[in-house]
Amino acid sequence: MMETDKIYCEDCLEGLKRLPDKSIDLIMADPPYLIKSTRAGGHSRLSHTIQPINNLLKENGLDVGLDFSILPELVRVMKRINCYIWCNKAQIPEYLNFFVGELSCSFDVIIWWKTNPPPTFHNKYLSDKEYCLYFRKGGHCQPTSYETAKTVYHQPLNVQDKKDYPHPTIKPLNIIRNLIANSSKPDDIILDPFMGSGTTAVACMELGRKYIGYEINQDYFKVAQKRIQDCSDKIK
Ligand SMILES: C[S@@+](CC[C@H](N)C(=O)[O-])C[C@H]1O[C@@H](n2cnc3c(N)ncnc32)[C@H](O)[C@@H]1O
Repeated sequence: MMETDKIYCEDCLEGLKRLPDKSIDLIMADPPYLIKSTRAGGHSRLSHTIQPINNLLKENGLDVGLDFSILPELVRVMKRINCYIWCNKAQIPEYLNFFVGELSCSFDVIIWWKTNPPPTFHNKYLSDKEYCLYFRKGGHCQPTSYETAKTVYHQPLNVQDKKDYPHPTIKPLNIIRNLIANSSKPDDIILDPFMGSGTTAVACMELGRKYIGYEINQDYFKVAQKRIQDCSDKIK
């Protein structure tokens, strides 16, 4: 019997092996992005703000991208392909090759368009958006209103979330909650292999979905546990 409403502090590549075939209704995955190591603008004031963030990502292995051998495992555990994957633009071709090229899934692109990105534009465009690719083959996408059917979320960086639950790449809860609501039903089981601060778990608790997740970093695992406890106290 698979235990739900639980996060395991372990490598998801190991944990996933214990999940039965076709046991998951929806995957919400936010793996480490693939970030090229560049120094942010020499000795400018801006570089003093951005470089520590880059260093933090590097120190915690959050710039290394994804081991793509996980993708067939994710497909194995889904009842039918119904899967959101957050990524940066460097990773888009590989996901499309796999899900659309090899598995003939349909797809959509959800965008978080940040209203207040850092002003870094030396020889490049602003880093003002994050992508979330949605792949499905028979998967469920049933927004209930014009508002919840939108694919672009124009909102600021979630600075307060990072203060409350320290994790450098915590995603906005409202976006995760809306995507889960659109693509699952009450009591469905949602898998998040890269749970971070527990955003997916909290969204599931608020929506009456079950969750199962993995987080390899002990500190982030503890942050997620605390966040789940806070949410549970609030719901009671
Ligand atoms: C981009 S963050 C996820 C942030 C999360 N969506 C949130 O809102 O807090 C990716 C997380 O995956 C974790 N991680 C990286 N590799 C992992 C692995 N092989 N198994 C489990 N967790 C992993 C990292 O420690 C990090 O916390």
